[in-house]
Amino acid sequence: MKILGISGSLRRDSYNTKLLRNAPLELELWDGLKAIPPYDEDDDVEPAPPAVVQMRTAVAGADAILFATPEYNASIPGQLKNAVDWLSRPQATSVLRNKPVAVVGASTGAFGAVWAQAELRKVLATAGARVVDGDVAVGHAHEQFDSAGMLTDHNLREQLQEVTQALVAAATLREAVAA
Ligand SMILES: Cc1cc2nc3c(=O)[nH]c(=O)nc-3n(C[C@H](O)[C@H](O)[C@H](O)COP(=O)(O)O)c2cc1C
Repeated sequence: MKILGISGSLRRDSYNTKLLRNAPLELELWDGLKAIPPYDEDDDVEPAPPAVVQMRTAVAGADAILFATPEYNASIPGQLKNAVDWLSRPQATSVLRNKPVAVVGASTGAFGAVWAQAELRKVLATAGARVVDGDVAVGHAHEQFDSAGMLTDHNLREQLQEVTQALVAAATLREAVAA
């Protein structure tokens, strides 16, 4: 089973990317976010821009996706929303359609990107993805990882395990139904 990890942060030492690295399962980290051009309906034609083709291919080839989103001004960072907009088209054949996805998040504020996570779930559901229940909200993210990048809080690690298990279960069910 192939699980793709998508971090909504472009930052080199991103806590959200670290959070994905702490997921207790084999995960392929997708790192093409910075290359995605701003969505322009005029450019959303065949062939799509190369970076978009690469992203759509990566998502299409994954059985499930784990998103980790920062929160910018109480919402989804623009670069991540922009990528999801590209993924959501063409609407009828979107690579997100029926794709099992889960959303977690980290922020340096107290609440762990809960608003950004909620909005990202809404956006993904609108695009037709199967959004798995469960969340991990890593607040005060600058205090939650040790020098090796490991998440130190036992409860948060347990929550991350629950979310990833639910994601794998959803992907397994989808495979079984498709078989
Ligand atoms: C433009 C901007 C807006 C931000 N807004 C919020 C916010 O609304 N809530 C919050 O908890 N943190 C906010 N932050 C702080 C981020 O949580 C922090 O930069 C975090 O480390 C970003 O995630 P990353 O480490 O994965 O890059 C904001 C940061 C930036 C740069």
